[in-house]
Amino acid sequence: MDSELYTIGLYVLFGGAAVIFPLLFFVTAPYGRHSRPGWGPVIPARLGWVVMELPSPLCFAWLYFSGDYWDEPVRLALFALFMSHYVYRSLIYPFRMRGSTKTKPFLTVMMAILFNIVNGSLNGWAIGHLGTHLDAGWLVDPRFIIGAGLFILGAWINLRSDAILRNLKRPPDGSYVVPQEGLHRHVASPNYFGEIIEWLGFAIAAWTLPAFGFLAFTIANLAPRARSHQQWYRQTFLDYPRERKALIPKVW
Ligand SMILES: NC(=O)c1ccc[n+]([C@@H]2O[C@H](COP(=O)([O-])OP(=O)(O)OC[C@H]3O[C@@H](n4cnc5c(N)ncnc54)[C@H](OP(=O)(O)O)[C@@H]3O)[C@@H](O)[C@H]2O)c1
Repeated sequence: MDSELYTIGLYVLFGGAAVIFPLLFFVTAPYGRHSRPGWGPVIPARLGWVVMELPSPLCFAWLYFSGDYWDEPVRLALFALFMSHYVYRSLIYPFRMRGSTKTKPFLTVMMAILFNIVNGSLNGWAIGHLGTHLDAGWLVDPRFIIGAGLFILGAWINLRSDAILRNLKRPPDGSYVVPQEGLHRHVASPNYFGEIIEWLGFAIAAWTLPAFGFLAFTIANLAPRARSHQQWYRQTFLDYPRERKALIPKVW
């Protein structure tokens, strides 16, 4: 990847985050409980998750292994963190989701594919080719240790919160209920909270611009959606606990 393309990619990540953050407070992405007509053709949700998430690990691995440093321990550790998340998200999560008849607008899938190509490529390139700080000494740098720890903590929160949603006892018609376990007692979207902690950890551990760009984009995407989820819960369930925050326990 030449440096001009890399720079353009960074503008897409950081610029995209700056644009979608305010926008998504007004226009909620139309999938899941916020699905509504008027967003064009739809595709099965499971298929949508696979095709929109898979470009990320594929692009990341392709550009990572095209570098000369792929067998260095720190880079391999970062590769393992990124890939563990995305192999799960693209190939396991979609088949564990409930609701085999759900659909997703093709438009949102296309937008996610574009983002994942840019994000996976930039992060794979930065870790496989750049980052002169990622030598063996980085393994004992506090940023790597704290970042990797945060990544694991965030992944645990994300997986556990998604599992609680998956195992909810729902009425026979499959409609939504108010979750009462784990961090769901404190926030509307603990799975998003965990996801953000994961990518905060990855950004600190990798200490590269694309990793911070990915973090910015994830916050810009998920914070407004957590607010939409909270508002939806309040409007749908009259007994929804008023003190439950949107995303960050006790804060927001
Ligand atoms: N990195 C990123 O930018 C990014 C972006 C999007 C998603 N993600 C991750 O992908 C995963 C799924 O995201 P999502 O937006 O689909 O999360 P979500 O809105 O919390 O939904 C997760 C699953 O649980 C079901 N569900 C949620 N609340 C429920 C309730 N109260 N009662 C019954 N079922 C409920 C949903 O069904 P419905 O689909 O029918 O609502 C869906 O199958 C999360 O782990 C998230 O962190 C990451």
